[in-house]
Amino acid sequence: MPWGHIVYYGPEGIVSKARSGIAYPNGIARSPGGGLIYVAASSEPSVYAFKPTYDGALQLAGKATFRGFVPDNISVDAATGELLVSGFLNTLEMFRYNREVLFGTDARPASAIRRLIPSADARRRFAEESILIHSGDLLPSTTIAVVQRRNNMRRMVLGSVMADHIAICEYQQ
Ligand SMILES: *[C@@H]1O[C@H](CO)[C@@H](O)[C@H](O)[C@H]1NC(C)=O
Repeated sequence: MPWGHIVYYGPEGIVSKARSGIAYPNGIARSPGGGLIYVAASSEPSVYAFKPTYDGALQLAGKATFRGFVPDNISVDAATGELLVSGFLNTLEMFRYNREVLFGTDARPASAIRRLIPSADARRRFAEESILIHSGDLLPSTTIAVVQRRNNMRRMVLGSVMADHIAICEYQQ
């Protein structure tokens, strides 16, 4: 149900509801300049772009809706402003994995990483592509993907709230 909130907590110590009515808000990140707040709503399943207003609310500025992909957490590549959205391709298998993992499981929660490229005009849609798909063997229940850059090196680091390790991917040239 769309009963989730995004809550603003400022340095003044003020806590207020910035946005309500979101179905399972599950990931949050901001654009490099701080001008946009991105929120993954797992149950829609969508990623929203919001513009913070002067009074601490969030105004809708854009949205990407997926088919067959349930977004979890979001990271923003500070060098490009692009979003990496980690998500699930088979949610029931992900829930089964999370429930059974301590006792041994054959669940294979397939995951994907999608790259969202914001357009200059925030009202337009994101350009979007899948940059990684795995069957669940690489890092079961992958919940976050971030770009790591060092000199000319660029790679992607995957994490999962259900795993005791990370996975590191090289980009294909
Ligand atoms: C979710 O993403 C945010 C922003 O990229 C990051 O700060 C946070 O650590 C991530 N949380 C998890 C549980 O992956």
